[in-house]
Amino acid sequence: MAGTANLNLGDKSVDFATTQGSEGEKAILIKPFRQATGYVALDPGFVNTASCESSITFINGEEGVLHYRGYPIADLVENTSFLEVAHLLIEGHLPTQEEYEGFKNSITYHTLLHENLKRLFELVPTDAHPMSVLSAAVSALATFYQDSLDPMNEDQVRLSIHRLIGKLPTIAAFHYKRSRGQAYIYPDNRLDYAANFMKMMFGFHTEPYEVDEEVARILDQLLILHADHEQNCSTTAVRVVGSSQANLYASVTSGICALSGPLHGGANQAVLEMLQTIHDDGGDVQKFVELARDKTSGFRLMGFGHRVYKAYDPRAHFLQQKVEVVLRKLKVNDPLLNIARKLEEVALSDSYFKDRNLYPNVDFYSGIIYRALGIPVNMFTVMFALGRLPGWIAQWKENLEKGYPICRPRQIYTGETMRKVIPMSER
Ligand code: CMC
Repeated sequence: MAGTANLNLGDKSVDFATTQGSEGEKAILIKPFRQATGYVALDPGFVNTASCESSITFINGEEGVLHYRGYPIADLVENTSFLEVAHLLIEGHLPTQEEYEGFKNSITYHTLLHENLKRLFELVPTDAHPMSVLSAAVSALATFYQDSLDPMNEDQVRLSIHRLIGKLPTIAAFHYKRSRGQAYIYPDNRLDYAANFMKMMFGFHTEPYEVDEEVARILDQLLILHADHEQNCSTTAVRVVGSSQANLYASVTSGICALSGPLHGGANQAVLEMLQTIHDDGGDVQKFVELARDKTSGFRLMGFGHRVYKAYDPRAHFLQQKVEVVLRKLKVNDPLLNIARKLEEVALSDSYFKDRNLYPNVDFYSGIIYRALGIPVNMFTVMFALGRLPGWIAQWKENLEKGYPICRPRQIYTGETMRKVIPMSER
């Protein structure tokens, strides 16, 4: 509901319009703030800044709620496929059978890479981090597909979206194969999205690859869980770059780079490394909880805490319940799962974590599942990126469709005031 907020600043009294979202979130429209008062809003890290109005994803962090376009994440993860969710996020509705076939066929049609792009995987060091290679390859797509770069052209936008969703798993799998010295396995368009990725990753030319449908479904569900999360760091990067009318490949490249950081998507790799360290150190989880409490240690419990969730992350909740089933199904006995369970138990009963509402986030258990699926630790964040792609695209598209202006925040300058250059000989 629209209303007014009144601000008294010195001898000035200024009214600002307010607005309210469909789930009751309230905001003050501060755009005219500077003109009316001479002040700007200072909010490093955008802790209390809504950068847009969006009808894609809703999170209630206090209650651990996550909806994509009104559908609870648990409902979607149980009852839809990743490509249905991609359609939901990008097109705004769950597809009919006919729409689904068209969407899926078009994406499947675009799974191949330009043959020359393979040379990129051959040029980079075999131990290059897969996220760096992913961002380089997605950026390079803009050089190969110059017929679909115009963000203002609806047909070109659709083409670039389908190309990107089709090609991202191929890029990820081709780099993996190259890094192992193995031959590329080309996409098999008879397979579903996740199954195709698994075949490209783990298949060999010497023998047929039997897709385990249950395993492929688990992977598909993991992708759904990661598909969008409103205005997180990488999505904000995509929106910011997209606001300059940069093409989709360039915008998504920025999202991949942002996701790679250990405080964001890189946390899933960091969690596994942390669990391994605790395991190798003898498994004393209490010691590491103490370390995380100690601000001078510089150590944080990776996979714990979230900017928005101050309750259990619903995605982590799903994974926490699923992880044992998955490991049993895959006949994997991972000692890191016991460490993770103990760590969660100790942390959740510790006053430091309780007082700060620090709960496991999506990255806490996902790595254990990826590891059981045979995905190398340094590719965990790539898996996150494969899942997040439809969200980045939907948010990029919404930003353009709303005609938002170029993102260009202000600052409060705190440096030197005007001074004169002294010749080098006199400095
Ligand atoms: N371990 C120990 N202390 C923590 C942790 C943690 N994982 N997370 C937050 N805190 C403390 C923090 O030191 C601060 O304490 P104090 O109030 O005494 O200064 C308080 O909790 C609030 O933390 P914050 O850093 O102000 O919170 P934030 O909203 O800026 O940061 C976060 C959120 C996710 C960056 C942070 O919780 C973190 O670093 N977690 C570990 C990394 C991680 O798991 N990241 C994945 C996030 S979920 C997936 C994704 O979005 O990519």
